[in-house]
Amino acid sequence: MSRFLMTRTLDENSAEAALGADVLRGLTSEPKTLPPKWFYDTRGSELFEQITRLPEYYPTRAEREILLARASEIAAASGARTLVELGSGSSEKTRHLIEAMPALDLYVPVDVSASALEGAAETLLAEHPGLRVHALLADFTRPLELPESPGPRLVLFLGGTIGNLLPGERAGFLKAVRAMLSPGDALLLGTDLVKDEATLVAAYDDAAGVTAEFNRNVLAVIDRELDADFHAADFDHVAVWDREREWIEMRLRARHDLSVKIRALDLVVPFAAGEEIRTEVSAKFRQDGVRAELAAAGLELTEWWTDAAGRFALSLATAA
Ligand code: AVJ
Repeated sequence: MSRFLMTRTLDENSAEAALGADVLRGLTSEPKTLPPKWFYDTRGSELFEQITRLPEYYPTRAEREILLARASEIAAASGARTLVELGSGSSEKTRHLIEAMPALDLYVPVDVSASALEGAAETLLAEHPGLRVHALLADFTRPLELPESPGPRLVLFLGGTIGNLLPGERAGFLKAVRAMLSPGDALLLGTDLVKDEATLVAAYDDAAGVTAEFNRNVLAVIDRELDADFHAADFDHVAVWDREREWIEMRLRARHDLSVKIRALDLVVPFAAGEEIRTEVSAKFRQDGVRAELAAAGLELTEWWTDAAGRFALSLATAA
């Protein structure tokens, strides 16, 4: 019997319709915006994996350091028999945790990339012959139907991805996570922390230009999926630190006046020279803010772990 199942709750047509709706809304708004989830086609996922290895991009290494140092504490505190991971990607860091959880029965990775889910499952099953994997091809910001699974459950949301949601979206998301938890279940949340501006900006504007290429990749996705004629070379990559809101914004700035045809939407989008599209918000956190956002969703912060340099945090929370 196969120990790997995949349930799809995304279908190709609805994904394309969702992209069209997001692009229509975002590029006819003032200022123009695009949601960051559309970065991650095959090329974008590859570029993101490259970003995680850049000298300037510290969050992945900092989070791995915490997971390695705390894996047995996390395993003991949660006693989890089911591990659910939202936005699992390559599941690369999760392996350290799975190794520390001998009682684990089921791993439920949730991601929008089928290729990432298959690759991750294959690697994990080779290393853990006793484990079952039930992958969900799904958008974790949408209501999720979890498979039948033994408790207690530990829900993972790593990488600082919660920072890509706006404050109102975060509140809704955390409430939905809270609703997934039964007594005895827990959430392990990764958050990047507020630090000096130079370090933050460098992490989103690396010298090798990989993040710039990742940012411009969303234009290639729109060209391909919606029959548009963006030219990546017409846009500069911009990363700015918003010190009031404590988030990094990635933007694409038009180098000159231009207009873009998006045939699938029957839309022409004009850009003035210097006009920007906001393509990502990446919020940075402090312990008090994390505690308050969790509490507002009915979750109680029970552990707070950082890397030795204090750049990134993992929070363990239970239903309050
Ligand atoms: C790991 C998905 C949260 O916001 O740091 C990396 C994505 N964007 N470089 C982040 C990202 C630009 C990333 N997440």
